[in-house]
Amino acid sequence: MSTTTPVLEGRDLTKHFWVKKGRGPLARRVPVNAVDRVSVRLDAGKVTAVVGESGAGKTTVARLLARIIKPDAGQVLLDGRPAPSGRPRSYAAQVQMVFQDPFASLNPVHRVRHHLIRPLQIHHMANGGVDAAVADLLRRVSLKPPDNFTGKFPYELSGGQRQRVAIARALAVRPRVLIADEPVSMLDVSIRLGVLNLLADLRDKEKLAILYVTHDIASARYLADTIVVMYAGQLVESASSVSLTDSPAHPYTQLLLAAAPDPDRTEPPHIEDRGAPPSLSAPPSGCRFHPRCPFAMDICKRQVPPSITVSPGHTAACWLHVDPAQRQASENGLLVTAGEPLHKESKKR
Ligand SMILES: Nc1ncnc2c1ncn2[C@@H]1O[C@H](COP(=O)(O)OP(=O)(O)O)[C@@H](O)[C@H]1O
Ligand code: SF4
Ligand SMILES: [Mg+2]
Repeated sequence: MSTTTPVLEGRDLTKHFWVKKGRGPLARRVPVNAVDRVSVRLDAGKVTAVVGESGAGKTTVARLLARIIKPDAGQVLLDGRPAPSGRPRSYAAQVQMVFQDPFASLNPVHRVRHHLIRPLQIHHMANGGVDAAVADLLRRVSLKPPDNFTGKFPYELSGGQRQRVAIARALAVRPRVLIADEPVSMLDVSIRLGVLNLLADLRDKEKLAILYVTHDIASARYLADTIVVMYAGQLVESASSVSLTDSPAHPYTQLLLAAAPDPDRTEPPHIEDRGAPPSLSAPPSGCRFHPRCPFAMDICKRQVPPSITVSPGHTAACWLHVDPAQRQASENGLLVTAGEPLHKESKKR
């Protein structure tokens, strides 16, 4: 793992949402522990993927890093310094978001040119002339020739072209960080690769630090330099993309990979066959994955697994990687492991 200061870093991020449960006089508000002590770093010229099933807390992590919502605990650091509170313009200019649904994120009554001019004007970014700046943005997202696109309405574009416009709009303020939340999951399979390649280009040519949020571990393997896997609000495994996908250390990551599309397999297994993710208002005790884990042991039900470095830069929060003698000692209360933060090792990176 890199020893340089990350452009953007989330440390021990924790977020609860309060939701109403029940009806009438019995209704009460209960906390949903959407994100629990998650640490993640974004480096210039690198893509970090956050992978997990629906409800794992991925979007909440993305929104916390973008400062759209406030953490209950933990910190967001920009260039190693605490990020300003809220999302002031100076922060928004550096950290931009791209959302899942490009149709919803573009105003249907405005043409492409309008969508791109607004951020340029708000952030005073078009010194060389607005039209030239708009054309440059469209070229950077491979919408060429730009004149073919500036006058179009969102409905006149394909899904992929719309997402490229949304990315161009994010680029208008010259951000250093792009947070892309499931940016291809609503696009036709045939055009996903093009948008992923655009993100790879922005990483390589413009040295953007990119957070790529996805439920699809195969696309994370294709695009990302580093992958962090989330399960039920917690970070369960983190490693370089190659190490994580070639040698997954956490049973949940193994399950995700086993369920990923594989051209050599005729009947892909369904991850749902092993049950559904738990409710985050009453998550399972110990390892949150234990009700679905094929390797669950007694200790898994009782004690939170510590984060173990399984190889350099590769951590997994799983009792399987704890020496059996230490596991036994922990069961007997001789070692303090219960409740230890899952990101213990990530602090050392
Ligand atoms: N604004 C909110 N209010 C209440 N609960 C929320 C809110 N946003 C997210 N959640 C809950 O937090 C959990 C994590 O959600 P989310 O971050 O959207 O997961 P993912 O993006 O991985 O699907 C889910 O249980 C979801 O229902
Ligand atoms: S800690 Fe136990 S239940 Fe959790 S993933 Fe590891 S073996 Fe499975
Ligand atoms: Mg989401």
